[in-house]
Amino acid sequence: MTSKRDSEILVHTGPGTPMGELMRQYWIPACLSSELAADGAPLRLMLLGERMIAFRDSQGRVGVMDHRCPHRCASLFLGRNEQGGIRCVYHGWKFDVTGQCVDMPNVLPHEDFKHKVKARAFPVVERAGLVWAYLGARAVPPPLPEFEAARLPADQLRVFCVQRECNWLQALEGDIDNSHFGFLHGGLVKPEDYAPDNRGRYMATHRAPTYGITDTPWGTMYGAHRPAEPGQRHYRFAHFLFPFWTMPPDGPFVDHIVIRAWVPMDDTHTMMVQMVWKGTSPPFSRTAKDGTPLPGTQPNDAFLPNTSDWFGRWRRASNPSNDYLIDREVQSRSSYTGIQGVDNQDQAVTESMGPIVDHAFEHLGPSDRMITTTRRRLIRAAKAWKSDGAVPPCLDDPQAALGARSGDFAAPDTVDWREAYDREMAAGIFPTVAARAAE
Ligand code: FES
Ligand SMILES: [Fe+2]
Repeated sequence: MTSKRDSEILVHTGPGTPMGELMRQYWIPACLSSELAADGAPLRLMLLGERMIAFRDSQGRVGVMDHRCPHRCASLFLGRNEQGGIRCVYHGWKFDVTGQCVDMPNVLPHEDFKHKVKARAFPVVERAGLVWAYLGARAVPPPLPEFEAARLPADQLRVFCVQRECNWLQALEGDIDNSHFGFLHGGLVKPEDYAPDNRGRYMATHRAPTYGITDTPWGTMYGAHRPAEPGQRHYRFAHFLFPFWTMPPDGPFVDHIVIRAWVPMDDTHTMMVQMVWKGTSPPFSRTAKDGTPLPGTQPNDAFLPNTSDWFGRWRRASNPSNDYLIDREVQSRSSYTGIQGVDNQDQAVTESMGPIVDHAFEHLGPSDRMITTTRRRLIRAAKAWKSDGAVPPCLDDPQAALGARSGDFAAPDTVDWREAYDREMAAGIFPTVAARAAE
């Protein structure tokens, strides 16, 4: 059981909290590059409980800064994104993307002190179709993350965001909670519904997998396996990577270059940011052997229009206000949830726990050991950073995360789970090798 004190450490990410300070040591994916147009409207951003704006200047450079003007705290969201900077509409002070005040037109020239004024701006880098911000205290930020997907050029990636209305940890834990697949997503699907070559059959036949779980240099990982063809096991591997990343298991391991960030906007809203290599193979077929779609598994990616509200970006159209469009008749007949779309189902259950899950109410079991292992690892790292400044995992050696890949495959049942992983890694497709060579 997670104690109240540990639970408090895990769920709070605002300034000064142990987990918030741990996260601030890492580069954070703040928004999509495509959300910012040169000289366009600034974007309201919530990151780790702080209100910020992002804007792109006339030269295409991006600024991420506290939304408050350092003069009298009017919001720079209302500002004019003018030639080379953002101008506060209250008294006209103007700031470049580094936060430097470059114009102070409401004071006489001999009283001008603009060179002494800086907005609270953060280092920014654009990479892999994303704007990354560094919120930590180092004068020289750490190296950028070296996750395989994050090393690919933007045109080789599909990058998108989805907001969840709940705490970051419960949202993230959905990706490392393996045993839910055979219930939430496929609880009424029978093994014989699948075509003989559909790997989903193994999960319908054996709904309680066996786990191998371990700490890794980048965080934690699990391999969940169940019997497959005679002499074979079917594996699903997934990872947690510091500080808020997951590699989910849903796709063929060999080319599954997918990573997700679960970025706390505040303690009750999370932005999932996903990068997928365009060469990644689709997950096992969601079609039954008779050619009909497996109930509930068809994508349902309708979004509400983005607004300029602090929490107005990337919200699903099926959401708590409409009970995720649950269809009770379909639920009683064919779909376990009555909710359409695997991602919607994940969204529904994690949000249904409440804005911040009450860990004291949980009864975690053997199937939740990846979750308890990951929580322990996070708590250890947050405490070690707070108490003696211990450098958190992968911060200064981000290439260590290149040992992580997720996905599913079959392997002989005589091979240990860790060895099965290493063999599959050695046989994987690595497009980043070519991408890096071309740089
Ligand atoms: S409050 Fe921004 S210029 Fe005065
Ligand atoms: Fe799921």
